[in-house]
Amino acid sequence: MSVEYVKPVPPPGEGENRVPQLAKVPNHVGIIMDGNGRWANARGLTRTAGHQAGEVALMDTLAGAVEAGVKNVTVYAFSTENWKRSPAEVRFLMGYSRDVLRRRRDELHSWGVRVQWWGRRARLWKSVISELETARELTAGNQKMNFTMAINYGGRAEIVDAARSLAAQAAAGKISAQSISERSFSAHLYGPKSPDVDLLIRTGGEQRISNFLLWQCAYAEFAFNPLPWPEYNREALWDDLLVFGGRERRFGAAVDKVAGS
Ligand code: IPE
Ligand code: IPE
Ligand code: MG
Repeated sequence: MSVEYVKPVPPPGEGENRVPQLAKVPNHVGIIMDGNGRWANARGLTRTAGHQAGEVALMDTLAGAVEAGVKNVTVYAFSTENWKRSPAEVRFLMGYSRDVLRRRRDELHSWGVRVQWWGRRARLWKSVISELETARELTAGNQKMNFTMAINYGGRAEIVDAARSLAAQAAAGKISAQSISERSFSAHLYGPKSPDVDLLIRTGGEQRISNFLLWQCAYAEFAFNPLPWPEYNREALWDDLLVFGGRERRFGAAVDKVAGS
């Protein structure tokens, strides 16, 4: 692996003065890290080189999120549909997730970041699960920011898994079907205590959700950033946070700008 892909990024704090004045800071940011393959191919590189270039982008973006005061960041690293890619690319992505976790967990720990994982165990490499568990245990007491890696994650799979878990409880007579509510349902998702997503960012120019955080994005604001993921960084994140600051969220309520109705 080329050394430039694993270069260190300035830790949070060093760039603190540069965070722009933000009208509001989203509590939970979801990021679809897309565009690696196109970025690489446009430079005559293989798709895997694009994924490798995404490591520094991820670390710099996380540092920028800490600096901006974002408390929860969830990134899409591998979808339940990404198994459709070539065996070589799947193999690369599994090994790469494992290596990034191993390489970066101490750095994330020193930043006060708590690492978590959302996804299905089935098919996921055991070495990836064990690195996720090691990082989770190491960082369990950190409170600066929750960082969740969605690996072998699908929004539909997550909802189906929650439904299965509730159905099993109902079949065992522990709950009644009538008692199931949005609140009790969300307690069976991968992150039972996670807040809804406030801002969903997708890099790489595509404007779709691709099965990410379907439940949690019910009222999310969307930012479709044309930058390919390897070119994303803390400044790009702050630009998207500025856009979020200008959005008016209504959650279904009416906002009357003229007195009377
Ligand atoms: C996102 O980049 C990374 C993963 C899906 C793992 P892509 O590999 O999808 O890159 P593009 O969209 O083909 O450019
Ligand atoms: C979404 O990107 C999944 C990840 C970024 C991990 P894809 O590249 O897989 O999505 P589609 O296929 O373009 O919708
Ligand atoms: Mg893609």
